Amino acid sequence: MGIQISPSLLSADFADLGAEAGRIASADWLHVDVMDNHFVPNLTVGLPVVEALGKASSTPMDCHLMIEDPDRWAPAYVEAGAGSVTFHVEAATAPVRLARELRAKGARAGMGLRPATPIEPYEDLLPELDMLLVMTVEPGFGGQKFLDVCLPKIRRTRDLIDKHGLDLWLQVDGGVSMETIERCAEAGADMFVAGSAVFGADDPDAMVRQLRATAEA
Ligand code: DX5
Ligand code: ZN
Repeated sequence: MGIQISPSLLSADFADLGAEAGRIASADWLHVDVMDNHFVPNLTVGLPVVEALGKASSTPMDCHLMIEDPDRWAPAYVEAGAGSVTFHVEAATAPVRLARELRAKGARAGMGLRPATPIEPYEDLLPELDMLLVMTVEPGFGGQKFLDVCLPKIRRTRDLIDKHGLDLWLQVDGGVSMETIERCAEAGADMFVAGSAVFGADDPDAMVRQLRATAEA
């Protein structure tokens, strides 16, 4: 698939999300951060906004669910129009069943890991997934500093994916910018979420293209 950029709308203008999506026409995906104020100490948007955004934009949506009980809620995000749904393994009761349900409904199934969650216990689950999300900040807020301590885990995750010969995307999220994207790409990530770096730029679409070119180099 190559390098993909999924700008996070968390740093966009929530009063005009359709227009904000239009400012990043070069994006491969729209990263939508769903927070419930329980799994993380912040509250964002839910199903109605995702559904409306899906109608307002033709770019596929990559929904990152930072919520408790994803087993109950995640499948509804496929019905709301998400092309990819990522649940956190720390919150899921039955990750295999949930991943199968997401796939059966026609979406890509992603599984997210907080910075302190290791990948190794989940090696046998990898064939059930389409994407792994390695968080490079503690989830909850945009604009935080990239955690270099997560780089070895990105590398180990890439090694596991390659060892099993899987076609699984490796996403990084948190503090990704022109300063840090090279390190992530070098460690083996191929899908990059960037919020403040993209929407804080004078020309968000040019930043998407610049990030992609830097990761590809
Ligand atoms: C944080 C979210 C991220 C956030 C990233 O919990 O999952 O997607 O928007 O923001 P930046 O790129 O500013 O670190
Ligand atoms: Zn996110």
